[in-house]
Amino acid sequence: MTSILHLDASARPGLAGKDEHGSHSRNLSQRFVSQWRARRPQDPITYRDIGQTPPSIISHDWIASSFTPEARREPWMRDTLAESDRLVDELIAADVLVIGTPLYNFGMPAALKAWIDQVVRPGRTVDIDESNLLDPYIPRLADRPRHLVILTARGGIGFDAGGEMAHMNHLEPNLITALGFIGITRVHQIAIEGQEFGGELLAASVAQALDKVDALVGELQHSLQAERAAEPA
Ligand SMILES: Cc1cc2nc3c(=O)[nH]c(=O)nc-3n(C[C@H](O)[C@H](O)[C@H](O)COP(=O)(O)O)c2cc1C
Repeated sequence: MTSILHLDASARPGLAGKDEHGSHSRNLSQRFVSQWRARRPQDPITYRDIGQTPPSIISHDWIASSFTPEARREPWMRDTLAESDRLVDELIAADVLVIGTPLYNFGMPAALKAWIDQVVRPGRTVDIDESNLLDPYIPRLADRPRHLVILTARGGIGFDAGGEMAHMNHLEPNLITALGFIGITRVHQIAIEGQEFGGELLAASVAQALDKVDALVGELQHSLQAERAAEPA
């Protein structure tokens, strides 16, 4: 079985093409999940709509609790970390993390940043070896191959790696750095561009992105199955 964690970060709850002012990134993530389900209905999929229900922003209490060793935590500290623990549990269970997200002001939506801050957790998703000053961080989620699928939508064009606007795109690079830091290193990226231009440019970008999503689902299912077949019985 392959476990999937599906997040949507768009502030727009509807779907582009169906609802007025609907979201393109939600269309991509829904396509990914529905294609996956069609071929592997047995795989568990956990869904979190962080765009509509954003995780809490971390606080002073959160930081104090998180950096207190578990054995020394007081009851209020455990309560403070309860939301983070739930989000971390979901992430640890996942083999494939699918994130549907817009590009907002050259970076990730605040709701997605709040989720990242809740799941990068010393002692849960990353260990810190203070005796090793040169390389102190040990990513806990490197315990098995985990895939990150970033499905994004942008108003402008040229934000892909190598594009004219790539230097102003801090969404995918930030996600890849933060999630790589905790051990999720197999990255797949698909984007819709040109939402602000509309017309044929957008339509072509949407069609291309949906085709890429379908192909990615096939490739991932194939490679995960091959990896499993190669595992000792
Ligand atoms: C607050 C806000 C900031 C945005 N910033 C950018 C940006 O920096 N670059 C860009 O190309 N598009 C930007 N856009 C356009 C969105 O990326 C575009 O509308 C995208 O389709 C949103 O994703 P969604 O369709 O999943 O909601 C912005 C839109 C909003 C609402």
